[in-house]
Amino acid sequence: MLSVLRRGVVSQVRQFSTNQIAVEGFTASVGNTPLIYLKKLSQQTGCKIFGKAEFQNPGGSIKDRAAVGVVRDAEEKGLIKPGGTVVEGTAGNTGIGLAHVCRSRGYKCVIFMPNTQSQEKIDLLRMLGAEVHPVPAVPFENPQNYNHQARDYAKNLTNAIWTDQFDNTANAYAHFISTGPEIWQQTQGDIDAFICATGTGGTLAGVGKYLKAKSKGKTQIWLADPPGSVLYQYVSTGGKLAERSGSSITEGIGQGRITDNLGTFVSELSGALHIPDEKSIAMVYELLDTEGLYLGASSALNVVAAVELAQKLGKGSKVVTVLCDGAYRYQSRLFSKKWLKAKGLEDAIPEHLRKYAVLD
Ligand SMILES: Cc1ncc(COP(=O)(O)O)c(C=O)c1O
Repeated sequence: MLSVLRRGVVSQVRQFSTNQIAVEGFTASVGNTPLIYLKKLSQQTGCKIFGKAEFQNPGGSIKDRAAVGVVRDAEEKGLIKPGGTVVEGTAGNTGIGLAHVCRSRGYKCVIFMPNTQSQEKIDLLRMLGAEVHPVPAVPFENPQNYNHQARDYAKNLTNAIWTDQFDNTANAYAHFISTGPEIWQQTQGDIDAFICATGTGGTLAGVGKYLKAKSKGKTQIWLADPPGSVLYQYVSTGGKLAERSGSSITEGIGQGRITDNLGTFVSELSGALHIPDEKSIAMVYELLDTEGLYLGASSALNVVAAVELAQKLGKGSKVVTVLCDGAYRYQSRLFSKKWLKAKGLEDAIPEHLRKYAVLD
C-alpha cells in the first residue's frame, strides 16, 4: 500500500488543484477527507497506522457527516419542509455541524445542552445562528435531561424535527455511505482492522458495517473506550451492562448505554480496548511533536488504540482509525499547566514534550 501513498505538501497541493471539481455548498463539502499515514508510529511498531482526517470537514469534525445525514434523511422522508426547525440535544460537535447545515439549507436550529457546558460552546453555537437552551444537567433517566427536552420541544412545533443523533440510525447510515467507502477506497481494501471510540456509535457502526461487508468479514472492527464508559466492559464480557462510574478528559465519547446506532453493530465487534487518559493526553502531545497534527483527546485516544491493536495483530498489520477533530476547541485545557496538574496528568506527558504546555 505504501507505493500508492502521496508524499509531502507539494504533491498534495498539485493533486488537489488538478483533480477536484467544485461542490455545491456546505453539505456537499462534507467528507472526502484525506487518510493520513502516521509515519513515526508506523515505523515504531513495524505496522501501518492510518488516521482519517475528519478534522478537515468544513464544520471542523467528524460530526458534520452525521449532521448532514440526519437532516438529509428527514428531508427525503418529507419530515421537514423549507423554513422548518431542526432540534437536537447536544453539548458539542453535532450541534456545530447541525448549525452549519441549517444555515446552508435555510432551517432554524435549536440546541438543548446541559448548563455545565462552557460559555465558549454556547457562544459558538449562537454565532452560527443557533438558538441555545442550557438546561439542568441531569441523568438520561430524568425527563428533564437535555435530550428529552429537545424531543419534547420539537414535538410541540409544526414543521420541526428532533434529529435524535443517538438513536436515529440515519447517523450510522451516513458513515456507511461515506466514511466507510472512502476508507475502503483509500486503502484499496488492504486493511486488517478499524478501531475507534464511540459517542452515539454512528461512526463505529456505519464504518464497521461497510468494511466488514466489503472485506467479506476479513477486516476486524474494534471498539476503543475511555474511562467512565460502560462499553469496554459490555463488549469484553459478552453483553453485561454495568453502572456508569468515573470520568475522562476526552469529550464526545464514552457511553452509559447501547444506543440504537451502536446496537445495529455491537454484536459484530471483534473486541474492545480500554484506553486510560494518561495515554490519550500523551498522544495529543506526541502527534503534535512527530506528525504536526493538532488534535483533540478523542482523536489521540483513537490513535493509542490503533497502535495497541496493530501490535496485537502483529508486525505488518494495517489499522485505520479516525481523527475526529482538532485541539482548537479544547486548547485552553489540553495545553494548560494548571489544568494538567488539576487532572493529575502532568507526569503522563514525557518530559521532552512538556514544552508544548505553554498556557498557565
Ligand atoms: C470529538 C468527538 N469524537 C468522537 C465522537 C464520536 O462519534 P460518534 O458519535 O459517531 O460515535 C464525537 C461525537 O460527538 C466527538 O464529538
